[in-house]
Amino acid sequence: MADYVYIFDTTLRDGEQSPGISLGVREKLEIAEQLRKLGVDVIEAGFPAASEGDFEAVREIARKIDGPVICGLARAVPPDIERAWEALKEASKPRIHVFLSTSDIHLARQLGKSHEQALEMVRDSVRFARGLCQDVEFSPMDATRTDPEFLYQVVETAVREGAGVINIPDTVGYAIPEEFAELIRGVLKNVSGIEKVVLSVHCHNDLGLAVANSLVALEAGARQVECAINGLGERAGNASLEEIVMAIKVRRDRLGLETGINTKEIARTSRLVSLLTGYPVQPNKAIVGRNAFAHESGIHQDGVLKDRATYEIMDASTVGQIESEIVLGKHSGRHALREQLERLGYYLDDKELDQAFRKFKEIADKKKEITPKDIEAIALEYLRTAGQEWQLAGYEVHSGGKEAPPSATITLERGDERITERAIGDGMVDAACKAIRSALGIEANLVYFTVESITGGLDALGDVTIQLEVGNRRVTGRGVATDIIEASARAYLNALNKVVRGGYPTDRGMEARGEG
Ligand code: KIV
Ligand code: ZN
Repeated sequence: MADYVYIFDTTLRDGEQSPGISLGVREKLEIAEQLRKLGVDVIEAGFPAASEGDFEAVREIARKIDGPVICGLARAVPPDIERAWEALKEASKPRIHVFLSTSDIHLARQLGKSHEQALEMVRDSVRFARGLCQDVEFSPMDATRTDPEFLYQVVETAVREGAGVINIPDTVGYAIPEEFAELIRGVLKNVSGIEKVVLSVHCHNDLGLAVANSLVALEAGARQVECAINGLGERAGNASLEEIVMAIKVRRDRLGLETGINTKEIARTSRLVSLLTGYPVQPNKAIVGRNAFAHESGIHQDGVLKDRATYEIMDASTVGQIESEIVLGKHSGRHALREQLERLGYYLDDKELDQAFRKFKEIADKKKEITPKDIEAIALEYLRTAGQEWQLAGYEVHSGGKEAPPSATITLERGDERITERAIGDGMVDAACKAIRSALGIEANLVYFTVESITGGLDALGDVTIQLEVGNRRVTGRGVATDIIEASARAYLNALNKVVRGGYPTDRGMEARGEG
């Protein structure tokens, strides 16, 4: 019989630390619900002490998502651990995840602590967390650059104090597979009591080795793997959940392992995370990229037509990469839209459905056929914008000509408040973005801008992703509309709304508080 591997998803914690990602509570709940359907064992919902928004999101997920363990991260200090517990305590299966750096470079240069002091912190923090919660995980951060003998002492201390999961992170993505496997074997051999706990790994992808390192660690005896959808995470990201799960499934003959993941939910989870975070998936990304199952060369096509197994090691339908045939149009009613949304896994209440239906009608007037991918994009555009402070209430653009430069007039709305601004720019997109900037009183530099179409055809929905730099912070925005300028304005506003939510002191905000 195959050994079970626990899948610990950190999309909402480490993944959310990717530059520019900033999810609201509603968006995080939507992703957490999808992770539950995907069948992950643990959802790391956030880092409650990091911000009010993180705390709120972890608490809501703990209250509403039943099934997986809900985990919150904490530094090895009592206030962080208390805050994590406060957010998690209503979960049916809560877990506190305590971490402390243990490498000499982190201890000396960042924390100014000796080995003895670090051991004391491990002992006290795990003991404190266990006093609050039955299920405690401990991570020695930067484990792969920690002296192995000291690492064994740290891990043994955490185990002795009652940690039930020990996670070995390759925090900076430095390890080479055989070396990492050796470290895992070393921990299993040299730490007394290790057989009582689940050994976990958490690999970063700085050298592109996160999945390889995770797999060799599983072969060496680890039984929990920490990973993120689409490989999101700090810097080059974490090990990609979909790649690890499919490697375990496709190569069960070699690995002898299994997971509880419903792989048919993988594609949908990937699309949801991509659309809500604003991080596109590269076309050739393994498992979930647009081209992952596309055959271009004539020889390959010939082989696949004769027998798919000639060039395919897994079927696209195993990961849920299949197109549904159902197409809606402008004569379709609310009922058909609701049915289609529910088939895709979106359950809106009546008020939400009214708004999504209005958006659907607007699009159906411009676009002949609306496919499931369009419907999903409409639903996600609705989810993205529903919680936004400022809404796009109107826009008008002129391409200009010989006499006049391109211009845009934008109206934004927040409750009863309305602002209209006109701006001229190098083009209509530039003018629209300038008008939004001046309406909100926020200075921002454009770092990244892409346009993709949701489906084929000239009337396809345009999907714009934008990344902005505001002060020393990056924010990502995404917008979908049949018109590229409108999609760009929506993406720009989506990004700036995150700045507003994060408490950036805008001119407008100061005026509203009477400080301006
Ligand atoms: O990369 C890392 O070390 C982490 C820890 C908090 C587990 O994310
Ligand atoms: Zn990490």
